[in-house]
Amino acid sequence: MSDSPIRQEILNASSYLNSYSPFIPWSSSIGLKPNLIKYGERNRRSSLAEDYLINSYYMRGDTEKEISIEYFNNDASRVTQSLNNQRDYTDLPIIGLPDSIALDLSLGESILKRRSISQFTGDVVNLSYLATIARCGRGTSNIVMTQSQKGEKINLDFSTVSSAGHLYPVDIYFLAVNIKELKQGIYHYSERKDALIKTGNQKNMLELLNAFMASQNRVIYSRCNYICLFVAHPWKSMSKYGERGLRFVLQEIGSISQNIHLANVSLGLGSVDWGSYYENEVNQIMGFDGVNQSVLHIILAGIAN
Ligand SMILES: Cc1cc2nc3c(=O)[nH]c(=O)nc-3n(C[C@H](O)[C@H](O)[C@H](O)COP(=O)(O)O)c2cc1C
Repeated sequence: MSDSPIRQEILNASSYLNSYSPFIPWSSSIGLKPNLIKYGERNRRSSLAEDYLINSYYMRGDTEKEISIEYFNNDASRVTQSLNNQRDYTDLPIIGLPDSIALDLSLGESILKRRSISQFTGDVVNLSYLATIARCGRGTSNIVMTQSQKGEKINLDFSTVSSAGHLYPVDIYFLAVNIKELKQGIYHYSERKDALIKTGNQKNMLELLNAFMASQNRVIYSRCNYICLFVAHPWKSMSKYGERGLRFVLQEIGSISQNIHLANVSLGLGSVDWGSYYENEVNQIMGFDGVNQSVLHIILAGIAN
């Protein structure tokens, strides 16, 4: 079998790097290999990512998957869906949110003006900014009352973002860093209550910031207004779609992210997607097992410097 052009390119780059060992002088001596070399090797071990891509296909004639999806089209599953995002917030402080700020910039302008911004002034903004962001990212924009075949009334929430199978596997949490009227801490945005639920205090927030990569002062986390954590519950989607459900979770994170970035532009804030964090540490501090609940994305936002 001949190599694909991309694989050929990786092989070329790999042999180039191998033949100029001074670039990576330690790679062969101590066994550490950058990805470019590791995955360019002919007899390389398999890649988890490639295995996942192939094994999460939905293929014609896969009866088991079809039955699994069909199961979700009945009444019982619709009730499950309507209960899906209701949580027990007993004993946790609930903070009501003010009205949103009107997003006056046109969609076209917002899209064109969007840029990754990671240097912030550290000045505070009002809670109404965060309320606007939360609702654009994951707010409930409509509640539809529907009936089961038995005549029971079921409320179905619809959100500002779409969700495969109406399952909403992604929640958003905020680190409130410089928000007037809000103590520094960790807050879960409950779309059901349209409110923030305080799940962590200032100390927990600072621990979490320590689990972000140091960034040569390019970003000073304490100057953000807020940091948004995307918390996935993959099995909400995977219980219907199997392995493929994880693709949907990641796609839905993309939808929420873009809503948040564009809302930031319209509010006059800057924001940046932030891959620079240690997943294990962040999940541990949040109290997540990393599988049933897992932080899969982060956005930093603030007033551009
Ligand atoms: C998933 C993802 C993770 C990212 N992580 C970082 C990051 O950790 N640090 C950073 O400075 N930029 C990060 N970025 C921003 C990109 O560097 C940026 O989008 C890219 O340079 C293009 O610039 P633009 O967004 O201004 O168009 C990330 C972007 C994405 C989509």
